[in-house]
Amino acid sequence: MSTEGLSTVENSGELRVGMVGYAFMGAAHSQAWRTVNRVFDLPLRVRMAAVCGRDEAKVAAAAAHLGWDEHVTDWRALIARDDIDVVDVCTPGDSHAEIAIAALAAGKHVLCEKPLANSVAEAREMVEAAERAAASGVRAMCGFNYRRVPAVALLRQLVAAGRLGTIRHVRAVYLQDWIVDPQFPLVWRLQKDRAGSGALGDIGAHIVDLTQYVTGQRIAGVSALTETFIKERPLPASSSGLAATANGGSVAAPGSSGSSGDGGGPPTGPVTVDDAALFLARLDGGAIATYEATRFATGRKNGLRVEVNGSIGSAAFDLERLNELEFYDSSAPGTEQGFTRILVTEADHPYMSAWWPPGHIIGYEHSFTHELRDFVADIATGSDPAPSFADALQVQLVLDAVSRSAEAGSAWTQVDPVRAEVTAR
Ligand SMILES: NC(=O)c1ccc[n+]([C@@H]2O[C@H](COP(=O)([O-])OP(=O)(O)OC[C@H]3O[C@@H](n4cnc5c(N)ncnc54)[C@H](O)[C@@H]3O)[C@@H](O)[C@H]2O)c1
Repeated sequence: MSTEGLSTVENSGELRVGMVGYAFMGAAHSQAWRTVNRVFDLPLRVRMAAVCGRDEAKVAAAAAHLGWDEHVTDWRALIARDDIDVVDVCTPGDSHAEIAIAALAAGKHVLCEKPLANSVAEAREMVEAAERAAASGVRAMCGFNYRRVPAVALLRQLVAAGRLGTIRHVRAVYLQDWIVDPQFPLVWRLQKDRAGSGALGDIGAHIVDLTQYVTGQRIAGVSALTETFIKERPLPASSSGLAATANGGSVAAPGSSGSSGDGGGPPTGPVTVDDAALFLARLDGGAIATYEATRFATGRKNGLRVEVNGSIGSAAFDLERLNELEFYDSSAPGTEQGFTRILVTEADHPYMSAWWPPGHIIGYEHSFTHELRDFVADIATGSDPAPSFADALQVQLVLDAVSRSAEAGSAWTQVDPVRAEVTAR
């Protein structure tokens, strides 16, 4: 592949990555950064140059454990370094905008975890920063990794090839149960100022992006309701009037009284996000859809399921069986009609030629390796990655419409258009 037009750094054939945050997504991304060049033939070689966290001892241990050359404790210093080409943002949503905008302004390519931001206003600023940076060849992508599951990419191909016909129904759920216990503490994900929203932005954002990606249609309007079942939770044990953050830091718990919830237990604070979000939607290509995102589906650990029904076929995906796609083709002879279980492990299935012989299945972490494969390839070829920050802003606009509808008693609410939002300013 020609490297003409690439920066000096990229012409050296090396892409030096600095990652901010080293916990759940930090570990998943590290696994993918370690793997991507060993599986895929790419024009740039990744160097895991430095990982950033605020606690020196913990980030040092993480660097050693996850395979980073160095650790640092100040993301601003990381971004200022000449020997960093990519900044990978794996922090909670309240720091995405600040880190990503600064990194783009410093000429670094940026991969930012989802949801892009905690608000439409922040997401809009991030899009503007990405568009300014793109003028000098700097790339930005948001990490909606489920797009990169081969069966999901195959579903998109089938829809795009017309194998389902006109899409009429989309049915999407993302079900978890990790906070069913009322004694589960008030972690950052349950605080609006840190996470933006609850189940809606955390897992609802995934099914919004995934369904729009596979159908090629965008959500135009919604009628929604949200619920917070447990309104007060204990502060984490290590804190007193403070809520622990994921890396052991602490923030003032919003509205924390510091008093015990029942007179004898630990101090509690208010949950300020939704536990569950449900909505009906109209898509701009004519389909109608239902969405359910909840952290209270007792027994469901990470149940992401999507079904698409078209005029001549249907397809269904279940993350718990991620190597499979169910496909119904109404053109088959009547005696043979039924859902076919496609095992998506053939070499001509998306991403699969780089892995194992047919039938040798892959897992959750591979979606991140595929995400990085595409991101690195786009940087090398000077292409715009997807989902772009503008694509992720559009998801943010859907989340915003859902929140506004829920606040207005489920009133029908239009999703604001991305371009008007961006260019009107
Ligand atoms: N793509 C997915 O499937 C997926 C899954 C989980 C989380 N996420 C997203 O990834 C992001 C991180 O979530 P997580 O589950 O990894 O959270 P986490 O709590 O496990 O880790 C957060 C990390 O960010 C660090 N951090 C927090 N504030 C920081 C700051 N100001 N400067 C430097 N480091 C800071 C913490 O030290 C920690 O290492 C969120 O946006 C979340 O929505 C995406």
